[in-house]
Amino acid sequence: MSKRIVSTIFDNDDNFYEHKIRPSNFSEYIGQKQIVENLKIAVYAAKERKDNLDHVLLFGPPGLGKTTLAQVIANELGSTFKATSGPALERVGDLAAILTNLEEGQVFFIDEVHRMPASVEEILYPAMEDFKLDMVIGKGPAARSIRIDLPRFTLIGATTRAGLVSSPLRARFGIVHRLDFYDFDDIVRIIKRSARIIDISIEEEGALEIARRSRGTPRVANRLLKRVRDFAQVKSNGVVTKKLAIEALEQLGVDEKGLDEIDRKILRVLIDMYGGGPAGINALASGVGEDKRTIEEVCEPYLVRIGFIKRTPKGRVATPEAYRHLGYEYKAQKPKKKSLFGDF
Ligand SMILES: Nc1ncnc2c1ncn2[C@@H]1O[C@H](COP(=O)(O)OP(=O)(O)O)[C@@H](O)[C@H]1O
Ligand SMILES: [Mg+2]
Repeated sequence: MSKRIVSTIFDNDDNFYEHKIRPSNFSEYIGQKQIVENLKIAVYAAKERKDNLDHVLLFGPPGLGKTTLAQVIANELGSTFKATSGPALERVGDLAAILTNLEEGQVFFIDEVHRMPASVEEILYPAMEDFKLDMVIGKGPAARSIRIDLPRFTLIGATTRAGLVSSPLRARFGIVHRLDFYDFDDIVRIIKRSARIIDISIEEEGALEIARRSRGTPRVANRLLKRVRDFAQVKSNGVVTKKLAIEALEQLGVDEKGLDEIDRKILRVLIDMYGGGPAGINALASGVGEDKRTIEEVCEPYLVRIGFIKRTPKGRVATPEAYRHLGYEYKAQKPKKKSLFGDF
């Protein structure tokens, strides 16, 4: 059930509207100023030299615009975009087939680049460095290794988990950027831009309310905007006002900090079961009944960002702000409570 809640604000973007609102060039890409400035210079310099752009590694929590930025880079280079993901590259042959079919200067995007099998990752090293593909053909005594020339392409890797990118892979990216949560003002601009593109009437205060609950994440902002629009259409005259936004978002279980049911459950488990922590990620995941990766990659970065959770060497700790948000009285180092599920 909790999976469904995550998917209401984080599910796939592959739909008609998504295609229309996704920025396609640097000027449409809102926020992340410094990163965009740096990338602009690198892209324009590469174009002027008629050389391929250095390989780019983008990391940061889901929904912050990594895939979008990769597509923007391809467009700005005037190149085509070929995308795959780490988990889809199961065998060396999968990657070899793509690499040998790339065009000169093409952007090759690997999402979740930390999730390639080691054997696949290894053939990527010479491909990135020297644009060569080393393959072993045949088996046993007849096996021989061949070296194939590849076109000069640009690899863009994206990952939610910088720490899981192996150091030899990381070292082969010339440009590395970490996307951070967006400022409030940027999220407001994103909401207004999307509303304009997909023709939603929205009042200033309505946009601000959605922005406040969008956890600094463009994907969430767009998703909430669409849900509120549905609500406005059914319950009122279609105009997104502040009152309507609040009503809709409350009904969706998104509170005034942008937390949803799972986020609050994480905090409750941490406080009720573990006396506020420290608790390890595995313990937390089993208490919440949610996939460990969802907690680590989707929920936790934002809870840390707004100062509700602290990550310590011993585990996650709930801060006084988290207690306050749930309406609990803060007591430092509460003794562990017995949980409904037995002792922890
Ligand atoms: N800088 C931005 N400006 C405007 N909209 C953005 C921006 N970054 C992302 N978006 C919107 O948010 C959605 C999610 O972005 P995406 O690139 O898929 O995130 P990620 O790949 O990091 O998970 C996009 O489809 C796009 O519409
Ligand atoms: Mg993506």
